Amino acid sequence: MESPFKPDVLKGKVALITGGGSGIGFEISTQFGKHGASIAIMGRRKQVIDSAVSTLQALGIPAFGIEGDVRKQEDARRVVESTYKHFGRIDILVNAAAGNFLVSAEDLSPNGFRTVIDIDSVGTFTMCHEVLKYLKKGGPGRSSSSGGTILNISATLHYTASWYQIHVSAAKAAVDATTRSLALEWGADYDIRVNGIAPGPISDTPGISKLAPEEIDNKSGDYMPLYKLGEKWDIAMSALYLVSDAGKFINGTTLIVDGGLWLSRPRHLPKEAVKKLSRAVEKRSRKTPVGVPTSKL
Ligand code: HXC
Repeated sequence: MESPFKPDVLKGKVALITGGGSGIGFEISTQFGKHGASIAIMGRRKQVIDSAVSTLQALGIPAFGIEGDVRKQEDARRVVESTYKHFGRIDILVNAAAGNFLVSAEDLSPNGFRTVIDIDSVGTFTMCHEVLKYLKKGGPGRSSSSGGTILNISATLHYTASWYQIHVSAAKAAVDATTRSLALEWGADYDIRVNGIAPGPISDTPGISKLAPEEIDNKSGDYMPLYKLGEKWDIAMSALYLVSDAGKFINGTTLIVDGGLWLSRPRHLPKEAVKKLSRAVEKRSRKTPVGVPTSKL
């Protein structure tokens, strides 16, 4: 689909994207690149990064990949420094690296819980911590008046509760809290905007193949407000909005991009039935007002 944004909205910007070689992260890398940004991709798998970088370069996007694990502070530091050395500045950090698997709480080991917290929550904070000096106003390669921006990919799982996702729910709750706290502190001190996106189910991603594998008979579409999965494009366009000047007054927000899914509930009555029932109840309550003893009528 064609982008509604001008092709130069990120002209001259440098974006570092963790997990940028696949899924939602790769679509964000591609769209940021198509809108003028130079792209650094961080990931654990060399072949995934190499292939993503070749695809971006074939599109004419300045791109470079660095292997690293967000769970290791030394990797985070090395990747951030290499990005700066390669492109001479860093304007945008996108934390898209994440880990997930379906598991019931009773079958999840503390190490399994910790692993996801380490990737999603601690990894996000570690990357923010290491990139701060490059994003703050007056930092290397920046003017003294404007800071860069951070985008944290979250989820909606923890807004209520989600089956077999205790570890990710806890991890993304921490990510959202991190987004707000950094927006407050680094917005005030350094002119850095920090926002998030909470995607719903997005087709053709590692997330959907892990959470809704084809072995499961997925009937949730019956009560999904838009009756469909989102596309990676939907997340990338929201990301462009938040990191570009279109979002210059947005700070500390996690934008839900799920077609309204997290609001959905099974419909307990068909629309026609509610019309009839509602009138009948109204009639009955006029005849017999609630709280008035029937002996007084
Ligand atoms: C139960 C499991 C498990 C499973 C791993 N573990 N898989 N427990 N069920 N299916 C446990 C292991 O037993 C171990 O605990 C601990 O987790 C660490 O596992 P490792 O395999 O050693 O970890 P590692 O190799 O570092 O791999 C991390 C990973 C893996 C998270 C388990 O899946 C991964 O690398 N994922 C990255 C890619 C990914 O998942 N992308 C999807 C993101 S989707 P013990 O106690 O045995 O030592 C997403 C969507 C969010 O984030 C929500 C959208 C709606």
